[in-house]
Amino acid sequence: MRRKYVIAGNWKMNKNPTEAAALIGELKPLVNDARCDVIVGVPFVDLPAALEAVKGSKIGVAAQNCHWEKSGAFTGEISAEMLKSMGVEYVIIGHSERRTYFGDTDITVQKRVRAALDAGLTVILCVGEYLEQREQGVTGEICAMQTKIALGGVSGNEMSRIIIAYEPVWAIGTGRTATAEQANEVCALIRDTVSGLYGSRTADSTIIQYGGSMNASNAAELLAQPDVDGGLIGGASLKPADFAAIVSSADNA
Ligand code: 13P
Repeated sequence: MRRKYVIAGNWKMNKNPTEAAALIGELKPLVNDARCDVIVGVPFVDLPAALEAVKGSKIGVAAQNCHWEKSGAFTGEISAEMLKSMGVEYVIIGHSERRTYFGDTDITVQKRVRAALDAGLTVILCVGEYLEQREQGVTGEICAMQTKIALGGVSGNEMSRIIIAYEPVWAIGTGRTATAEQANEVCALIRDTVSGLYGSRTADSTIIQYGGSMNASNAAELLAQPDVDGGLIGGASLKPADFAAIVSSADNA
């Protein structure tokens, strides 16, 4: 049986709470019959409005980061426990924008993953190479290493609460999508990495998404690939009709 599809939006730093509720209000009727899982990843301040707005729908809500400590002197940070306490189910961790602009490293990503699992959240773990790394031919090594380090200390049982998103950095927000073959190749390689750590049964059931300029026009081809189990969508997730079209591409894949 094919793995289920998971389509997640990463809104990044867009939409205030009022706008978030309105966007979800528009999205709800469009995805209510979806068979795949649908998630919206919203800014921290939008979480209460988003949690309220998704009520009565199948849409899950994700935060875009969490800290690894439960509480303490970490100005500006939000703990996984805090997210869990308000009813958040998912958290995106290790996004390349956090790694590039906010100093996240493989080790802090590992710590955030651990904390999120401890709090009972499901993690969307992002990995992916820079353009220079792809051009040097080290995409496989980079993605395998990021995956291995992030999962250090994660048990096989906990892998049911890990979704991995392969996001080549050069494809994010650039309109330059990976080809379906490139996306599938790296998703398969990440699955092999998971298999090496946890065995093939766990690897076979792990959801591995592609992200990077996925949109209503290219989603069907990407999602038709055997190792691509969904998408993590930036820009197109801010347009309800486009995001819903990606959801229906997953349902029809
Ligand atoms: P875009 O879909 O805007 O390229 O963003 C992808 C992404 O970073 C999702 O996390």
